[in-house]
Amino acid sequence: MIYPTLRFLFPPEGPPILEKSVNVGKVADIPPDSGQLFRIGNKPGLLVRDAAGQFRAHIAICTHLDCTVQFKADESIIWCACHNGRYNLQGANIAGPPPRPLDPLDVTIKADEVHVSFPG
Ligand code: FES
Repeated sequence: MIYPTLRFLFPPEGPPILEKSVNVGKVADIPPDSGQLFRIGNKPGLLVRDAAGQFRAHIAICTHLDCTVQFKADESIIWCACHNGRYNLQGANIAGPPPRPLDPLDVTIKADEVHVSFPG
């Protein structure tokens, strides 16, 4: 069950998928202080809803050695398990080996649904 989920989120390299915007879900289904991975184009994305209810999204690829990052609720950070890299919820690298911030994505709420897109 885990393998098919990971294959969906992180398909093998192939022709580029030109998807520039994805619907990640309904606002009501994403509780504050939570994070969820999704796919945008050929990349993993991480949508985080902070404790105040604000949404932010980033490409979920660690800027150190490309591991997938995740939301760590007990510390309210974005965390990379590979080498204990840490980012704040704005995506800035704050501890560990990551050399630069995560790449940001745009978040738009339309009709109570959360849409994430590449900037520009
Ligand atoms: S790959 Fe993320 S900290 Fe090394």
